[in-house]
Order: sequence, then C-alpha cells, then structure tokens
Amino acid sequence: MLEVEGLDVDYRGKVAIEDVSFRVSCGQMVGVIGPNGAGKSTLVKAILGLIPSTGGIVKFRNCPVKKQLNSIAYVPQRTQVDWEYPITVLRVVMMARTASTGWFRQPNCKSKQIVKSALQRVGMWDLRSRQIGELSGGQQQRVFLARALAQQADLFFFDEPFVGIDKRTEDIMFDIFNELKRDGKILILITHDLGNTLTKCDYLLLLNKHIIADGSLQEVITNENLQRAYGNNLLFLNREQKPA
Ligand SMILES: Nc1ncnc2c1ncn2[C@@H]1O[C@H](COP(=O)(O)OP(=O)(O)OP(=O)(O)O)[C@@H](O)[C@H]1O
Ligand SMILES: [Mg+2]
Repeated sequence: MLEVEGLDVDYRGKVAIEDVSFRVSCGQMVGVIGPNGAGKSTLVKAILGLIPSTGGIVKFRNCPVKKQLNSIAYVPQRTQVDWEYPITVLRVVMMARTASTGWFRQPNCKSKQIVKSALQRVGMWDLRSRQIGELSGGQQQRVFLARALAQQADLFFFDEPFVGIDKRTEDIMFDIFNELKRDGKILILITHDLGNTLTKCDYLLLLNKHIIADGSLQEVITNENLQRAYGNNLLFLNREQKPA
C-alpha cells in the first residue's frame, strides 16, 4: 500500500501543495486530475523525494519511499525530458536495469532479455537503434513505458502519458496498465482527460493545491467539484469531458 499523509510542498515560500493525504492499495490505478499549476507533478516528485517536502509522511509497503526507489518507476511529463540528449532507444530502456546490474557492469543476459521483451511489448524493438530525439511523440512515450516495464517496479507514476499520442498507442498503454493492475501493481496516473481515461481508474484525486475531492468517478466528477477546482477555466474544457 502507498500512504501519503499531510504532504506539503513550497517553492521558495510559495505553497504548491498543501496537506495532501490519500492511500492506494495494490492492484489499483489512481487518476490525478486538476488544472495547470494545480501541483500534480509536484505531488509526484515530492512522493518520489525528487524535491523536498516541507511536511508530511510518505510510505510504501510501510517503509519510506526513498529506500525503495528501485521498486518505483516514474515516467515524467514530456516537457521535463531533454529529447535532444544523444541516446538510443535501447540504452534508454537499458537504464532501467542499472540498479540490478550495477553502474559499471555490462548488462547480463537476463537484463537484456527483459529489455527486449519490454520493447517488443510496446512495439519499439525494431527501432531500438534510433536516437530518442528522432522518434515521434507517441513512439517516445512508448519507449518510456518500456523503460518503466523493464524496471519491473511495483509502483508506477505516469505524468500525462497520453499527451500527443494516437489511439493505437493509447490502447497499448491501457492494455499494459491493466496487466500491471492484474499483477497487483499500483499505478498513479496524472491526466488532463476528464473523459474516457477516468472511467478506467479505480480512484480519483481532484487537486488544486489541496485535495478538492477524492473517491470514485461519481463522487469526484461533479459540476460543483470541477467548478471548485477549475473555476472559470472550466469553460475551456471539452463539452464531452464534462459530467452530464
Ligand atoms: N521548480 C519550480 N520552482 C518554482 N515553482 C515551481 C517549480 N515547479 C513548479 N512550480 C510551481 O508550482 C505550481 C505547481 O506546479 P506543477 O508543475 O506541479 O503543476 P501541474 O499540476 O503539474 O501543472 P501542469 O498541468 O501544467 O503540468 C505552479 O504554480 C508552478 O509554477
Ligand atoms: Mg505537470
């Protein structure tokens, strides 16, 4: 189980998230939604210990998250990745195995096989020698998904994985998410899609600095909650995404 209790983060004294608490059980997928600047990416980075929190407790399997980073996979938001970095698809995915093989060792047969099946699973094995910057947006997302798979983690964070991808890539991703859930993994999914994606989540967190609402789709996606979270920006949401 992942437990987050009273998490606070400030950036130079300015509150980014405040008193965020929630729990997720094994085999569950949590959707995190909220407007731009709501603190969604900040929440994930603080859980992972990538940025300092000013208060709160985060535990995974009853122990501090920082001691279990090998069991945690993180696919960052597209805007936070340097796509010009000169590295091949194969090496990006192989990086997921560094913790198991060691920094200065050649990857062993088992790691090579795991990387190969992860790339095959997302349909990217044939492009393994390409530079990451020479792929389409959807292909890049699939490579990062393969890297998360190759890590064989138990807890997965995906920050807006569906941005700029086509239906086929989205279907591949959801198939994989379902498999991971069946295997008892925990998935935390940040998304701006208030439609189809949310119906696939077991639990939702609606965030705008603090938690506006959490629970099932019916409990969270109400006009009142969305108005509280998005305010006037609600007007810009796609009509089809709004609740009936
Ligand atoms: N490194 C940083 N230094 C200072 N302020 C930051 C930093 N990163 C984020 N912020 C601020 O913290 C707030 C939350 O940012 P965050 O990136 O977590 O939002 P988000 O919900 O992920 O937004 P988006 O939907 O646009 O990705 C914003 O006001 C942002 O400007
Ligand atoms: Mg973000």
